[in-house]
Amino acid sequence: MSENVPLNPPARARLRVLSVASEAVPLIKTGGLADVAGALPAALAPHGVAMTTLLPGYPAVLRAVLPAGRAKPKVLHSWDSLLGEPARLLAGTIGGHPLLVVDAPGLFHREGGPYSDVSGQDWADNWRRFAAFSRAAADIATGAVPKLAFDLVHAHDWQAALTPAYIRFAPFERAVPSVMTIHNMAFQGHYGADIFPFLGLPPEAWSVSGVEYHGGVGLLKAGLESAWAVTTVSPTYAREIRTREFGMGLEGLIQSRGDSVHGIVNGIDNTDWNPEADKALAAAYSVRTLPKRRANKRALEQVFGLEPGDGPLFVVVSRLTWQKGMDVLLECIDHLVGIGGRLALLGSGDKAMETEFHAAAARHPGRVGIRIGYNEALSHQLQGGGDAILVPSRFEPCGLTQLYGLAYGCVPVVNRTGGLADTIIDANLAALNAGVATGVQFNAVHYGALAEAISRTVALHGQPEVWRQIQRAGMKTDFSWGQSGRAYAALYARLVEAQ
Ligand code: ADP
Ligand code: GLC
Repeated sequence: MSENVPLNPPARARLRVLSVASEAVPLIKTGGLADVAGALPAALAPHGVAMTTLLPGYPAVLRAVLPAGRAKPKVLHSWDSLLGEPARLLAGTIGGHPLLVVDAPGLFHREGGPYSDVSGQDWADNWRRFAAFSRAAADIATGAVPKLAFDLVHAHDWQAALTPAYIRFAPFERAVPSVMTIHNMAFQGHYGADIFPFLGLPPEAWSVSGVEYHGGVGLLKAGLESAWAVTTVSPTYAREIRTREFGMGLEGLIQSRGDSVHGIVNGIDNTDWNPEADKALAAAYSVRTLPKRRANKRALEQVFGLEPGDGPLFVVVSRLTWQKGMDVLLECIDHLVGIGGRLALLGSGDKAMETEFHAAAARHPGRVGIRIGYNEALSHQLQGGGDAILVPSRFEPCGLTQLYGLAYGCVPVVNRTGGLADTIIDANLAALNAGVATGVQFNAVHYGALAEAISRTVALHGQPEVWRQIQRAGMKTDFSWGQSGRAYAALYARLVEAQ
């Protein structure tokens, strides 16, 4: 933390919130959770909320907190045993906002990803790593560190989900209001009953209204039972998770929480994602200078080894998984190429899919280009040079790549689910006539529906005036954090007042 950043929020801020997340940009990212956790402090600041972010001390995070040459980190607290591990609490900053880091070498000093080793295998002790992280969060939120005080704690996803449970069940003096956000119901943190004795929770926590889930321990489940309020990242997903198809076993719990479940759509950080000032692009542009995008398209064609052309260049930036519908995209590639499209894809994930995408590229040289891996700059270049971004997700709590597509004039082609349903207006006749269409939507993730959406996109792209209108309408859409920041702040205020 630089010396002039106060540990505690400035006096004019009314609410002090601890945001507990397992990843946050710009320090550590595997997906959209990091974008959101990284953006929240700035999104909430204009609404009287001072947010401090708590992260695990992975090597990448420690490097940022312990800049080379600085002899001593700022240690705010230490634990002799955090679920059996010695740990200390370090202070730093993230995007100019306060950051706290749980430095527990036995849990987090490892090369690899935040959840898996270098070969992609999940760490076997993930339950212990994130239970300890959540325990630290509960301690901090309830006043264990005298210099720090918080009015509310906001936990994200299963990795932070024991935080509200510890606050509810462990004998803390202060009850602190808690919010639990579901970024993806598909990841729930299920473990065997044998871990329960090691969590440091009292015996009464082992119940159907506590951490017990089908005879084992459910970390997300415990958070959803214990938090004062639950949010998820779009209104449609908040409705969908009440059903069996999307609730993934927790639909009954979500229904039982009634109107304490809220859907608040994610915003995008338009300092990071602004085509007028994006250093990753060959040519910056705005809604008034769309023809400049052509230089970005030419640059992409080179990077992906594609033949130049005027037909639509479809792009994908995605985890390569079943959730994201990438298996169905594979089936549609021949059709996409057959009707004059080209495809540039950046992604990583399922090894079999990676192989199949490479095979598709080999089948269509100059028409399909594939980059396997994670590349932040290239993800910006794809949005800045592609014509249309394909997001055929089977479920999508919010989705961010379609929002970046809107901001960059890269027309989203999306399945109508979750946040994709809430953020894109389909180019049907009425919407086109009213000038409000921002993308193409389809209704189910199978070959026929996606192939038809791709055909419709190619046809729209063939009408330059119509296409430009769709691009412009998307670029003018407000997906900044304004409204959603206000919604979170209002929720926090209600919970704090209700104490
Ligand atoms: P999810 O979190 O489910 O993967 P989102 O759409 O919410 O989906 O967020 C994905 C984030 O990760 C976006 O910021 C997207 O640009 C980024 N991303 C996904 N795959 C890659 C990749 N291979 N390289 C760079 N960025 C990626
Ligand atoms: C999850 C979801 C994604 C959402 C992101 C941020 O990764 O899969 O839809 O945008 O979290 O909330």
